[in-house]
Amino acid sequence: EPLVISNKDEMRKWSRAMRCQGKVIGLVPTMGYLHEGHLTLVREAHKHANVIAVSIYVNPGQFSPNEDLSTYPSDFDGDIRKLMSVPGGVDVVFHPHNLYDYGNDKRNSNVAIESDKTVSCVDQGGFGHETWVRVENLQKGLCGNSRPIFFRGVATIVTKLFNIVEPDVAVFGKKDYQQWRIIQRMVRDLDFSIKIVGSEITREDDGLAMSSRNVRLSMKDRQNALSINKSLLKAKSAAADGQVHSEKLRNLVIQCITEAGGQIDYVEIVDQENLEKVEFINGPVVLCVAAWFGKVRLIDNMEINLK
Ligand code: PAJ
Repeated sequence: EPLVISNKDEMRKWSRAMRCQGKVIGLVPTMGYLHEGHLTLVREAHKHANVIAVSIYVNPGQFSPNEDLSTYPSDFDGDIRKLMSVPGGVDVVFHPHNLYDYGNDKRNSNVAIESDKTVSCVDQGGFGHETWVRVENLQKGLCGNSRPIFFRGVATIVTKLFNIVEPDVAVFGKKDYQQWRIIQRMVRDLDFSIKIVGSEITREDDGLAMSSRNVRLSMKDRQNALSINKSLLKAKSAAADGQVHSEKLRNLVIQCITEAGGQIDYVEIVDQENLEKVEFINGPVVLCVAAWFGKVRLIDNMEINLK
């Protein structure tokens, strides 16, 4: 069984003790309700580290008030069981109650406001967190358009986790491609001494990218959502067959998902590194999709590397 730690000082103490023993420490940050995708990240972490910490924390700072913070699924006991099923298991599960609780100093308990959006974590914690990490350009397009405070919330909580857990290596899934690139860039720009590993997307047998939110899909929407992966594959093979005009490939994806009843948030073809839109594919790009099926917003993507 993994050691479960909820206190941040204890977490740091464990990590420093491990480092003293010469261990390489791996961290896999998650929001829980784990699935095979998360477990694949743990297996990946084992390739790079001697001891593994998995954090389970639903970060209020990355949810806007209209999003699904209060209904985000959780199953802590199930998560522990799943982590134990991974060969090598995990050493620690870091499961803090509230990472925005700085004691009862209320002097700074003003509500942080940015782009007219009240930050839910401050509503919740009430102890006045006001420092944020923002990766200026990478956070702008794709998910940044419909989720304006999301990535600064992610970058900030990941910074906090890095400072608490002090890992040598951290593993992120390419399922959240923009998130992975943002963390990579943040680590470079701010000189964190942490290696960031990007891990491939884990899919269900029928191609649906695994997500903690998939359980909220109705049977019908679950079936219709297969159009996402299908259309990505279609576009990828069209590109391989010579169709390098982004607009054509985008339309193919948009049409396929729309016909299946999905509501498009975005479909974009962007440079793999800087995530800027490309008009014609002439280098490594990634085709990124976000679409709604019922009340569930799903994201997926596919790298396209033409030779
Ligand atoms: P969460 O959605 O729980 O995802 C945790 C990690 O698992 C992320 O790195 C995500 O990219 C990865 N992941 C999820 N589904 C995956 C799949 N099907 N294949 C591969 N990797 C997958 O992402 C977050 O939590 C949060 O934003 C977090 C980074 C923990 C900060 O709060």
